[in-house]
Amino acid sequence: KAPLLIAIDGPAASGKGTLARRLADYYHLPHLDTGLTYRAVARLLLEKGWPLDDEPKAIEAAHLVELAALDHAVLSAHDVGEAASRIAVIPQVRRILVDKQRAFAGQPSGAVLDGRDIGTVVCPDAPVKLYVTASPQVRARRRLAEIKARDGASDFDTILADIVRRDERDTQRADSPLRPADNAHLLDTSEMDIETAFIAARNIIDAIM
Ligand code: C5P
Repeated sequence: KAPLLIAIDGPAASGKGTLARRLADYYHLPHLDTGLTYRAVARLLLEKGWPLDDEPKAIEAAHLVELAALDHAVLSAHDVGEAASRIAVIPQVRRILVDKQRAFAGQPSGAVLDGRDIGTVVCPDAPVKLYVTASPQVRARRRLAEIKARDGASDFDTILADIVRRDERDTQRADSPLRPADNAHLLDTSEMDIETAFIAARNIIDAIM
């Protein structure tokens, strides 16, 4: 059986992470949320009080990232995501992290990877590529619900502005900008719940494999 490699890209809060986890469960594949690798670099810089534009320090931090030690609970904080999108513009940081991501993708079983550049840069030969989007308003509403469930205070306009700024940074950077791969299947989840998106993704995958 050929290894099943599923590449999932999309903007912040598009639902790609949840979808990636569900698909990994369903197809019994290991899953890597590549955003966590950029978050781990950002978090180390924040922790040490190093400026986010200190490239040598960011490169040093990227070398220290261990995929097995990525802690979702610690890395999910909002300020870490914001900082991650700033260090993610540094080409050498990307190169170091992409090498680690490719090693994960090369497992004999196949894998599910989600991020911004999986279908375009990390795994351009993946047989399955999904590009998951939703309108900024829908994404802000989802993020708000998530934050309220966790720690309370925030408001829709601030979150929407954050999402728009993050989209801008991720789509406009020179190295590996967020964009759908030429042969990616687009999945707009603006009007879908998780279950519907999951079924739509399975239908796409089962038609390919
Ligand atoms: O997906 P998540 O919000 O955790 O990603 C945090 C940031 O890391 C993104 O805004 C993006 O700038 C960067 N990232 C990236 N390439 C990836 C995954 C994440 O540049 N493959």
